[in-house]
Amino acid sequence: MKTFALDPIEKASVDELRALQLERLQWSLRHAYDNVEHYRRKFDAAGAKPGDLKRLEDLAKFPFTAKSDLRETYPFGMFAVPMDQVVRIHASSGTTGKPTVVGYTARDIETWTHCMARSIRAAGARPGDKVHVAYGYGLFTGGLGAHYGAERLGLVTIPMSGGMTERQVQLITDFKPEIIMVTPSYMLAIADEMDRQGLDPKQCSLRIGIFGAEPWTNEMRRQIEQRLSLDAIDIYGLSEVMGPGVAQECVETKDGLTVWEDHFYPEVIDPDTGRVLPDGEQGELVFTSLTKEALPVIRYRTRDLTRLLPGTARTMRRMEKITGRSDDMMIIRGVNVFPTQIEELILKQPELSPHYVLELTKSGPLDHLAVLVEIQPGAQDNASAATLAHNIKSMIGVSAEVKVVPISTIERSIGKAKRVIDKRKS
Ligand code: DLL
Repeated sequence: MKTFALDPIEKASVDELRALQLERLQWSLRHAYDNVEHYRRKFDAAGAKPGDLKRLEDLAKFPFTAKSDLRETYPFGMFAVPMDQVVRIHASSGTTGKPTVVGYTARDIETWTHCMARSIRAAGARPGDKVHVAYGYGLFTGGLGAHYGAERLGLVTIPMSGGMTERQVQLITDFKPEIIMVTPSYMLAIADEMDRQGLDPKQCSLRIGIFGAEPWTNEMRRQIEQRLSLDAIDIYGLSEVMGPGVAQECVETKDGLTVWEDHFYPEVIDPDTGRVLPDGEQGELVFTSLTKEALPVIRYRTRDLTRLLPGTARTMRRMEKITGRSDDMMIIRGVNVFPTQIEELILKQPELSPHYVLELTKSGPLDHLAVLVEIQPGAQDNASAATLAHNIKSMIGVSAEVKVVPISTIERSIGKAKRVIDKRKS
């Protein structure tokens, strides 16, 4: 019988991990500087040479990288190896303008596969498990990332991709996978389809859900776990840094995501000043790749908001579940609001469903927030709108118009859910 042993580094001492990181960080800075003109110019402008990094903290002397750097050098200007060494391209569908293009050498694919296998194992996979991959296959990193990792672990990998929801349910019913990898919002759409077909989601074969690619709250976790009777585990990643498998929650603790720090060095900064914050403080997550060849990223600003916490199940530090992206933050009459804050309040009302959208408009000079949320099938609307509006006002401090709408009114996504419709700009 196969066993799934941890990599030695997952349980190494912190000193051993820091020593490895320092060595790899020195290599990565040198690699970026020597092979990418854009990095060379930025490092020179900041007066930082790769040789200046003597301790991990010296990383703060180096300039940040942002999505705009990748846009300026579109499509391949940040690649650090010649094209004959690149074996894969992925791209994220930029909502505005050009997509962000990322490349991988054969060794990068190997590293990614390894990190994904490690992630799926940390989520609780066992030999013989079948993995239903419902992340999209294609330029999005979710599908292929999950696929390679599951195969590497020797699991039965079912490359379903996103969409065709009836078919998803049919294959889950017939193949009886133990694990599903999908965005949490699409998991809910699949569960709704089970209900529609008269199947009890609790009775399905799934034991573990590996959910990510979008923010989701612990309230949502409780709800999904109850509804499908499985362990809902968080996975994080982004294309620029690699794809899924940068950080992964461990099933035995479910206390935030272990960052695979032997490959990705995390920092949390104050998004306004760029100052590095001590562990435990909330800010913007920044990553530096330690082993990537084709597209090294140095201090890449993710725009994701979280904090770093000490390791528990593993030696590596954890990041707290992401509160949101700074891009998703709504400023409503001067108050900063994240969609996840509203999600938490919605899910505290059992008669309301997790399907919601937030619509922002202007009424005269003032911002107006409308929360559209579906009622649960068969539930009674007991002044639900008034209760939710009251809770939003008292907990978050903004006035919202709440509209409780019938089931299936809100558009379902097959990948990342779009929670905010901002009509103020148009
Ligand atoms: O979403 C990679 C991925 C695929 C992660 C499958 C997990 C599972 P991008 O399309 O480049 O890559 O989007 C990255 O998605 O910066 C976060 O804002 C958000 N995100 C990803 N995972 C999580 C998560 C993939 N677990 C962007 N919680 C990131 C909250 C997440 N947000």
